[in-house]
Amino acid sequence: MSDNRVSSHAPSAATAGDDVRRALAVVLAAGEGTRMLSRMPKVLHQVAGRAIVSHVLDAVTHAGVDAVAVVIGPDREDVEAEVRRTSPQASLHVQRERLGTAHAVLAAREALEAGADDVIVLFGDTPLVRPETIRRLREAIAAGAAVAVLGFEARDPTGYGRLLIEGDELVAIREHKDATEAERAIRLCNGGIMALDGAHALALLDAVDNNNAKGEYYLTEVVEHARKAGLAATALVADEAEQLGINDRVQLAEAEAVIQARLRLAAQRAGVTLVAPETVFLSFDTVLGRDVVVEPNVVFGPGVVVEDGAVVHAFSHLAGATVARGADVGPFARLRPGAQIGERAHVGNFVEIKNATLAQGVKVGHLTYLGDADVGAGANIGAGTITCNYDGFRKHRTHIGAGAFIGSNTSLVAPVRVGAGAYTGSGSVVTNDVPGDALALGRSRQVVKDDWAMRWRKAHAADKGQS
Ligand code: UD1
Ligand code: CA
Repeated sequence: MSDNRVSSHAPSAATAGDDVRRALAVVLAAGEGTRMLSRMPKVLHQVAGRAIVSHVLDAVTHAGVDAVAVVIGPDREDVEAEVRRTSPQASLHVQRERLGTAHAVLAAREALEAGADDVIVLFGDTPLVRPETIRRLREAIAAGAAVAVLGFEARDPTGYGRLLIEGDELVAIREHKDATEAERAIRLCNGGIMALDGAHALALLDAVDNNNAKGEYYLTEVVEHARKAGLAATALVADEAEQLGINDRVQLAEAEAVIQARLRLAAQRAGVTLVAPETVFLSFDTVLGRDVVVEPNVVFGPGVVVEDGAVVHAFSHLAGATVARGADVGPFARLRPGAQIGERAHVGNFVEIKNATLAQGVKVGHLTYLGDADVGAGANIGAGTITCNYDGFRKHRTHIGAGAFIGSNTSLVAPVRVGAGAYTGSGSVVTNDVPGDALALGRSRQVVKDDWAMRWRKAHAADKGQS
């Protein structure tokens, strides 16, 4: 298949200088995110099937940085595990007390001391930042600025730091709490993403004090220190959506909407038909091949690959599954992790498949559960077939040979094998292996009582007359 990875990030196109200038990204993820009202730290909440912080790490990777340092809170093994999964090379640094954003960056002093040409500071709760934007900030540093800040025109600037601009120079960032009325009228705000010239970064950060309304070490103060040292600071403007920081569940849903819109667009631009795009939910890693058709109301959890020309009918839910070329799935199908649907196979309505491989041309039309199973090419699975894969303690596999015909409403009690070309009679409970080309019947024989129904009706009609 063509590699149509539906990524919200364009493939990294190296900008001039990328390979000569070394970049360090420092990602601040020490916040608990109290406004989420959650037992889980904020940066582990998910958008598009992946933790918020991992989106930031992914953007940083796509921007082509050389080193990543992540600042986390004390005793946060869960955040550490997530960072290790997404960015195994990242160094982790613990900020023991939350004394402000500059203090948080300095928790990664070791990484800063290792030296870099560009230091990019990002917040771990800002998942929508694009690699292109990170590259733009780096270009500003390469062009001579000591500090480059990403800003946006806020619809409502309340709470944000304001960018104070004179000419085309950034002279200071004023935190909302410290701002005068006149400064509060400014709508150009600090989005929180900043690049620093590595040669000056440590000195600028060390100069920051906590003399302000919050009593915190503000990262934003580096702008003034740069100016005092005769260095240039500059602001770049990007879309507000890209700088959305997630502080509560409302913003979490807003971020989800933005990422979904990006993923849908990327899929459509890669040759996928989304009949009603706004009803299809994708994951960060969903891979959809060319000429795939996705009908309305389909959810793709993480780890799904759908190859060229396959069709996913309405109201299906897929996660951790592969659908090969020309296969079709749904409507109302559920593919769970480990489901591998072969070429031109057909998985119909109300069918659930888990940890099972269906070879090419297999037909599972209706109302079936196949779990922990291997199904050979061209086998036909009748309506209502169930693999009884679980004995209350362990899972067992079911093997169905090529060309087998499983009669409707068969229960396959695993572990069990049905040979190639074999049949099972409808309604059978299959507990023993079935040789190839045999017929297995595991059900009680039918009894017919002539005229029984007529006698029954007569008897009851008489009852009714008496009462
Ligand atoms: C910050 C900026 C503000 C900007 C806004 C954009 C500062 C001083 N202010 O304000 O100009 O408009 O973001 O959203 O930088 N963090 C730590 N350790 C700390 C403090 C913060 O790791 O000691 C992390 C937080 O988890 C968060 C990020 O840094 O991810 C930003 O901190 P927060 O306190 O939310 O800053 P704001 O007041 O929003
Ligand atoms: Ca914030």
